[in-house]
Amino acid sequence: MTASTRITTPFTAESTAAEVVDGIDLTGRRVIVTGGASGIGIETARALAGAGAEVTLAVRDLAAGERTAEDIVATTGNKQVLVARLDLADQSSVAAFTAAWDGPLHILVNNAGMMASPEMRTPEGWELQFATNHLGHFALTTGLHRALAAAGGARVVAVSSSAHLRSPIVFEDIHFREREYEPWSAYGQSKTANVLMAVEAARRWADDGITANALMPGGIRTNLQRYVSDEELERLRAQSAGAGVSWKTPEQGAATSVLLATSPLLEGVGGRYFEDCNEAEPHQPGTRRGVAAWALDPEAATLLWQVSVETLAA
Ligand SMILES: NC(=O)c1ccc[n+]([C@@H]2O[C@H](COP(=O)([O-])OP(=O)(O)OC[C@H]3O[C@@H](n4cnc5c(N)ncnc54)[C@H](OP(=O)(O)O)[C@@H]3O)[C@@H](O)[C@H]2O)c1
Repeated sequence: MTASTRITTPFTAESTAAEVVDGIDLTGRRVIVTGGASGIGIETARALAGAGAEVTLAVRDLAAGERTAEDIVATTGNKQVLVARLDLADQSSVAAFTAAWDGPLHILVNNAGMMASPEMRTPEGWELQFATNHLGHFALTTGLHRALAAAGGARVVAVSSSAHLRSPIVFEDIHFREREYEPWSAYGQSKTANVLMAVEAARRWADDGITANALMPGGIRTNLQRYVSDEELERLRAQSAGAGVSWKTPEQGAATSVLLATSPLLEGVGGRYFEDCNEAEPHQPGTRRGVAAWALDPEAATLLWQVSVETLAA
C-alpha cells in the first residue's frame, strides 16, 4: 500500500461500534477512554469492553464514571471496567493520572472534549477549549508514551471533528490574547490540534510500534451541545444536512473511534483522518466533510508539538 492509498472499509455512517468490533478479540488488551462516562465515550467503552478489553474510564466526575462502569459491566459481562479521575484542564490531575498508570497500554482513545463554550481560561491563562481538548490530551498521551511503547503495536485514537474545518492553528495567538474570542473558532482550532497531534505522534513514535489516527464521529446529540442554544443547534443541523454530515445515534457515533482502535485494516496505519468509518477525502469547499490540508500539514504538526511542550513546561 502506498502512502496515498485511501483506506476504505466495509463500514459506513450507519455502522455501530458493536458491528465494527464484531469478531475481534481484545482479551488481554488494556484501554483508556477519556470522557468515558458520557455521550459517545460510553458506547466506545462499551464496545471495547464487549470485545474483552480491560477498559479504564478516565473521567472528571467519579460518580458518573462508577454508574457508567456498572452499566457496562451489566451489559457486557466484562468485569474489567475501571474508573479513574482525570481533569484534562488541570495539569496536576493529568500528571497524577499518568504517574498512577502501571504497565502497558494498548489503546488510548482521546475522546473527552468541550465545544463552543463562552470564553474561559485555566489558571495558567490558556483558552479552555484548547487547554482541555488539546493540551490535556497532549500531556496525557506523552505522559503515557512509555506505557504505549511497552504494549507493542499500541494505537492512539484522537476524536476530532469536522469543526476542524473552521480554523487552523493560529500560532500567532493560540489563546485569543490579541484577537477577539469566538467560541467556534476556538473549538475548531482545538479540533485541528487533535488531528495534528495524531500526525506528529505517528511520525515520532513509529519506531515504538505506536500508530495514531484522528476522526470525525458524526453529529450526535449529547451533552457536548450544552453551550449551544436550541435555535443555533437547529441552524447547525439544517446546515449539516445540506452539507453531507449525517446525524447518528451514540452507538453509530462511537463506530469510527472503535474502528481506529481495533480494525486489522488499520494495522500500521498512522497520521490519517477518518469519518463514517473510512478515511476522509480532502475537503471540498461548500461541504462539511473531508479533511483540511492544514490539519494534515506535517510542518504544522511538528510546530504544534514543540509549542505544546514549551507551553506545558512554562
Ligand atoms: N457529539 C457530536 O456531534 C460530536 C461531533 C464531532 C466531534 N465530537 C467529539 O466527540 C467527543 C465526545 O463528545 P460527546 O458528543 O460524546 O460529548 P459529551 O457527551 O459532552 O462527552 C464529552 C466528555 O468529555 C468530558 N470532559 C469535558 N471536559 C473535560 C475535562 N476538563 N476533563 C476530563 N473530561 C472532560 C465530559 O465530562 P463531563 O461529563 O464531566 O462534562 C464528557 O464525559 C468530543 O471530543 C467531541 O469534540 C462530537
